[in-house]
This record gives sequence, C-alpha cells and structure tokens, in this order.
Amino acid sequence: MATTNGHTAISAVDAAAEERRRLHHESDVLIVGAGVLGSALAVALGRQGRSVLLLESSLKEPDRIIGELLQPGGVQALEQLGLRDCLEGIDAVPVRGYHVSYQGDTVDIPYPKETPSSPAPEGRAFHHGRFIMKLREAAMACPNVTVVEAKAMELVTCSFNDNVLGVKTVTKDGKTDCYFADLTVVADGYASKFRKGHHEYSPKVRSKFFGLELIDAALPKPFHGHILLNSETPPVLLYQIGTHETRILVDIPENLPSATVEKGGVKGHLRNVILPSLPKGAQGPFLQALEKGQMRSMPNSFLPASTNKTPGLIMLGDALNMRHPLTGGGMTVAFSDVVVIRDVLSPENVPNLADTKKVLKQMEVFHWKRKHGSSVINILSMALYSLFAAGNPNLKVLQRGCFRYFQLGITKGPVSLLAGIIKEPLVLFWHFFSVAFLSLWVLFRESALYMLPFFPFQSISVFVTACVVIFPYIYMELLK
Ligand SMILES: Cc1cc2nc3c(=O)[nH]c(=O)nc-3n(C[C@H](O)[C@H](O)[C@H](O)COP(=O)(O)OP(=O)(O)OC[C@H]3O[C@@H](n4cnc5c(N)ncnc54)[C@H](O)[C@@H]3O)c2cc1C
Ligand SMILES: *[C@@H]1O[C@H](CO)[C@@H](O)[C@H](O)[C@H]1NC(C)=O
Repeated sequence: MATTNGHTAISAVDAAAEERRRLHHESDVLIVGAGVLGSALAVALGRQGRSVLLLESSLKEPDRIIGELLQPGGVQALEQLGLRDCLEGIDAVPVRGYHVSYQGDTVDIPYPKETPSSPAPEGRAFHHGRFIMKLREAAMACPNVTVVEAKAMELVTCSFNDNVLGVKTVTKDGKTDCYFADLTVVADGYASKFRKGHHEYSPKVRSKFFGLELIDAALPKPFHGHILLNSETPPVLLYQIGTHETRILVDIPENLPSATVEKGGVKGHLRNVILPSLPKGAQGPFLQALEKGQMRSMPNSFLPASTNKTPGLIMLGDALNMRHPLTGGGMTVAFSDVVVIRDVLSPENVPNLADTKKVLKQMEVFHWKRKHGSSVINILSMALYSLFAAGNPNLKVLQRGCFRYFQLGITKGPVSLLAGIIKEPLVLFWHFFSVAFLSLWVLFRESALYMLPFFPFQSISVFVTACVVIFPYIYMELLK
C-alpha cells in the first residue's frame, strides 16, 4: 500500500484522524477515483474538516484523450473551489471562443463579455494528465485527505440493512484490503464498475471520438476551439493543448460508410476523408501523427443522472451523468457538482455523514440543485451533436440553418450556453427553435422552384425532427 501525505504540523485531533485513515482505513468519506471529480471533491470536503480517504487505481500521470478543454464556466467553478492554481504551470493554452467552418465558410464565435467593461471570459486547454496531477497534488497537500493507490473491486455492504460500508481493494502488487467510511463516493469515471444496481439508467454510446496529437500544427484562429462541419461527415474538433501540441478529435458513429473495413476502416476514413478537409496548416502534422500510429479512441456516451437510493453511497462525475464531449462540458459539470455538493453536505447541513437518512434526503436536494449547472450543458451537447453529425436530410437542413444563425451574428447566447456561463434552459429553448425556424426560411429560399410544392411537407418534417432532437433530452434533464 502506498500512502501519500504532504503535510507536517497538524492538530492532535487531525493527527488522530490521519492515523485512523492510515492504520485503520476508516474515514468520514471514502472517494473512489482521483480523477477530475474525485480529486476536487476530496479537497472541498477535506477543507470543511471532513476526514477523507481518496483511492486511485494508478497515481501515475494519466495519458488520455479526455478532459482537455475547460470551458469558462468550469474555470469559474474551479475558482469557487479555490483550485484555480491547478491551471498554472501546466503549459495551458487560453481559449477565447470558437472558430466554426461549414462547407468552406467560416465564422468566429468569441466568448462574450458579460458587460462592456468586464474582461472577456477565458477557458483553458491543456494535457489532461498534467491537470489531473495538479488536482491530485492539491488533494495530497490537504492534511485531512489521505491518498491511497489501490483499485476498488467491490462494495462492502452491511448484511442486515444494505448500507454501503466501504470497498474492497487490490493494489498493483496483488494485495487485497478494505477501506471504510460513513459515506462512500463512487467517482470512477465513464466505465464505472459500481453503477449496476445503484443507477437507474445505463450509458448509450452514440459514436466514438478518435484522437491524435498533432505537433506544431498551425490553426486558422489560434486560442480558439475549431469545429469543422460539413453535410457529409460527422464533426471534427481541433484545439491547441500546449505550446507545441494540438488535439484533434474525429467523431465516428457506428457503421459510417467511409470507415468500413473495405474502405480501410477508421484509418482509411482519416486519410481519405478527414485529411483533405483539414486546415492547410494541420494537414502535415495530421499525416505524421497518423503514420506514427498513436491513434486512440473513447466512446461518446449519454447517461442521464438518477437519484441514488442506496444508503451510505453516492455516485458522481461520469459515473453519474454523461453527455457528448463535442461541447467540452464534462469537467465543467463535474466542478459545478462539487460546488453544489460541498454546500448540500456541509457540516452545517449534515453534521454526521453516518446519518444516512439525512444524506439521502440531501442527495435528493442535490439532484435538483445540480441541474442549474448541468442541464443546459447536457441538452445542448446532445442536440448540437445531432445537428452537427446530421445523419439524415432533415438534420442537414437544421445543420445549415444553425450555421446561418451563427453567420447572422447571433452567437452571444449560444456560446454562453456552451461555455457554462448562461445556465437558463429557456435561453437554450429559444435559440434552438430560432435555429429551427431560420432553417425553414433558408430551406424555402434555397429550394429550387420545382421543389416548392413540397415545401409544406418538408417543413413540417424538419420541424418534427427538431422536436424529436430536443424534447427527449429536455424531458430527461429537466423533469426527471
Ligand atoms: C473523448 C472525450 C473527450 C472529452 N473532452 C472533454 C473536454 O475537452 N472538456 C471537458 O470538460 N470534458 C471532456 N470530456 C468529459 C470529461 O473527461 C469527463 O466528464 C470527466 O473526466 C469526468 O470526471 P470523473 O472524475 O468522473 O472521471 P475520470 O476523470 O475518468 O476519473 C476517474 C478516475 O477513477 C479512477 N478509477 C477508475 N476505476 C477505479 C477503481 N476501481 N478504483 C480506483 N480508482 C479507479 C481512474 O483511474 C480515474 O483516475 C471528454 C470525454 C470524452 C469521452
Ligand atoms: C482539517 O480538519 C479540521 C477539523 O478536523 C479543520 O479544523 C481544519 O481546518 C482542516 N484543515 C484544512 C487545511 O482544511
């Protein structure tokens, strides 16, 4: 067992709690997974005076293609948690907005200032692993937190009342052990081992992102996320994540015709379809990265949150709730959730975390309160993905309408929703249906004369498609 604790002078009470964590494996809170959510939560609760055990299966710097662009809303939440420092010293790149291209046309979408005199909001893009190491360092520096390298294997439950008491673990060298706490928090990410039986829904995978790291690529609009759209292929994202490095994520739904085995699979699709569509300054680095063969992929899932009913257990982060990573909203939701949970489970609201009834009641409060920071991001990511991936003719009409909407200069609202700055579902609803109506107008204007007799049918069909795109997510996110 590797125990890490970076502190010296602490009070006798805290020292006793530390010893209880280290020797007896007991704490107030046991967090499984020192990723984006788990590390931030450990700091937030530790600073409230809770005794926290943070378990992580590998404390090595992660090397992953996820969680690399933090929206301004996420930077704000990180600031509220007193963790803004974690963005320093990791060669992070400021993000000031988006640059969207569609069939050769482009439009710039800056993050807007709240008032003319306020500074423009900024996001940050970085190497995921470096940021995670900073978050973990912050947890280790907290005297009330003990970080342990061990993998949680299963929950330990009380045999007569089904309360979760802790977890069984195994270390890299095969030693098994147990850790106990009043409250166990599962934050083990997208492929959570512990959802089954404790979560109402299971993830739906809509596509995969294939990622490559480009060296010294020149993008048309530095310090901006790039979204490449086109009516024939699903969206491609590009953003700089370090002085020399740029991430490209290529969305590939299942059964994409240009990625079939006969056409050379995903690699064939990347070489034949994606390469020629990239900005000139990215093509060389893309080809080099492709030839180096370091392509990696991750599933893009949708998972609505559900309220947990198991006493002694809560589920957070990707284990609880997922949305399409197209809009880079996952970490923003995670940090907003930590801000909410810190308040909902504060020592003032819940003096004793062993009071499982009280905790469950507060988690019901959390379920509704967190929607303020998560619903808009979740609905927008899924609806926008449907439009940007445009799998049928009606969606292509909406995709074109969406780009025209941006071209008209109506970007302030939409990008503030995406950035996690505006959190009002009504604003999202308004823009979405404005796009739908603009799409119909564009369809009318750009239809050939002989097609006009079909316009009434076509427009109803497009409108129905728009409703089908958004209402299921509105229902799941706002009402359930
Ligand atoms: C392709 C892709 C790109 C993305 N890009 C972005 C982006 O640009 N911006 C953004 O905001 N969001 C992005 N996201 C979403 C974001 O990465 C997640 O929402 C976020 O990482 C969730 O944090 P988490 O702490 O729940 O999970 P994770 O960050 O995955 O952390 C889980 C941790 O638990 C550990 N663990 C797992 N199992 C165990 C176990 N049994 N015992 C102990 N430890 C365990 C893991 O090692 C890991 O450290 C992306 C997602 C995908 C799929
Ligand atoms: C640790 O917990 C104690 C209560 O046990 C609290 O007084 C103290 O502020 C906490 N320390 C830090 C650095 O958060």
